[in-house]
Parts: sequence; C-alpha cells; structure tokens
Amino acid sequence: MTTTPSPAPQLRARFDAAGGKPVYVQRMFGRIAGVYDLMNRVMTGGLDGRWRRFAAQQIALGPGQTGLDIGTGTGDLAITLARVSAPSARVVGVDFTPEMLELGRKKIGKLGLAKRVELVQGDGERLDFADNSFDACCSAFVVRNLADIEHGFGEMLRVVRPGGRVVCLEMSHPYNPLFSAGFHLYFDRIIPLLGKLIGRSAEAYTYLPTSVTSFPDAPALKGIMERAGWRDVRYWYRIGGGVAIHYGVKPAR
Ligand SMILES: C[S@@+](CC[C@H](N)C(=O)[O-])C[C@H]1O[C@@H](n2cnc3c(N)ncnc32)[C@H](O)[C@@H]1O
Repeated sequence: MTTTPSPAPQLRARFDAAGGKPVYVQRMFGRIAGVYDLMNRVMTGGLDGRWRRFAAQQIALGPGQTGLDIGTGTGDLAITLARVSAPSARVVGVDFTPEMLELGRKKIGKLGLAKRVELVQGDGERLDFADNSFDACCSAFVVRNLADIEHGFGEMLRVVRPGGRVVCLEMSHPYNPLFSAGFHLYFDRIIPLLGKLIGRSAEAYTYLPTSVTSFPDAPALKGIMERAGWRDVRYWYRIGGGVAIHYGVKPAR
C-alpha cells in the first residue's frame, strides 16, 4: 500500500504526459539547473541556507563517519553537512538529474571540498548502496518529489546503520490561518512569476506550489517515517509551518 497521496489533477496530467512522475521531475530539474541556486536564494530571501544548516547540525558526523544526501541536486545540503561535521567525515550526494550534479561538482571543486563530498548519479528510491553503509542520511526539498514517500524513507532506513539518524527538510503547511493566506498568495502567485522572470520556467515554479498542496502535513509525514521504521521521530517548524524539518533514528539491532 502506498502512503503517498495522489497528485493534484493538473500534476497527474503532466506526469502522465511525461511517462511518469520520476521522468517529469528529472526533466524539470534538468531544465532549471542553471538557475536553481539563484531561485532558491531569491524565493526564500536567503533563509534556505539557515534551514539546511539547522538540518545538517541534527546529524553532524563524527570523525571518519559517512553521510548520504538524497536528491542532492547542486550539493548545498551535502556541502553544509560536510562543513558542520568532523574534518575527516565524508558525504555522498545522490541525484538522478545529471545537469544538477554537474553544477554541484563544479561548486564542490571551487570550495576545495572534492575529497570530502562526492556526488553520484542514482535513484533515491532504489539506492545502489549496501545495507547499513552510512552513519546518517539527509534530504532537502526532495521527498515531495518521490513517487512513494514511505518507500523512500524505507530505502534511507535500509542504508543507514542501526542507531544512525535521518533528517528531512521539506516544504509543509502553515499552521496559522492568517499566515497561511499570505503564504499561499506568495507561493501560488509570486513564485511562478519569479520563475518566469528569473528561472525562465513558469511551469517548474507552478509545480512547486502544486506539489506542496498534495504533500502530507508535518504530523502526517512523521507517521509515514514511523511506518517506514524510523523511531524517535520529531520535527521543527520554520516560517510558521511553511517549512518543516523532520528527524528520526534507526532502531538499534
Ligand atoms: C528541489 S531539488 C533539491 C536539491 C537539494 N537537495 C537542495 O537542497 O537544494 C530536488 C532534487 O531532487 C532530485 N530528485 C527528485 N527525485 C529523485 C529521485 N527519485 N532520485 C534521485 N534524485 C531525485 C532532483 O533531481 C533534484 O535535483
């Protein structure tokens, strides 16, 4: 049984036309890769960096440990995790969009982090890594894009060692009705406009608000993580619930 809610009808039509959600998502990020980082900074007023830092701190790696960043894109969360971790810790970032990875590798090279952060191409829902091979796993703005969210968290659980941790930074649903109205106005009207002007893709930036509409709220996402096998699951809100950061631990054997 899948616990991933059905997409909004307008998104289902786009997924069907592309040959499925993963193909649609991959093509879309391939098209916007060049403006992705800039759009993030503009859309969030630079707050995305703070959210990634807070998320990374929850799973900071000790000496010699290795972390995995699912849907790493241009590598921002993987880089942040390396920076908040011990100098001998390593981070592997996995993503299925080559255009995003190429930009990420250039960025990592310029930052002198190539020995500590490696980006590889792969599917976050079918991870090509052995069981229990990472100390921690993270993702930022990714699980909303997965075809089956519970399965995705199950794959993360499989590759993380017993006692290892997961953190998930994602868009969510504001809990304050007044804030929610302003948030939706910004999300549904301003962001697609910014996407058209800066990102040259109104379509990609209408996908963003529409994909959040059908995404589970923070308590429901906690339930999905627990069903996937994560324990001690908790979450923190940012910007009045518009963003949520979930954390969990893999049970010891
Ligand atoms: C919104 S971007 C987030 C990038 C990065 N995590 C960040 O914090 O900026 C979503 C990324 O997830 C990737 N992605 C989505 N579904 C994926 C999957 N099933 N397997 C691998 N990558 C996936 C996309 O290619 C894209 O690069």
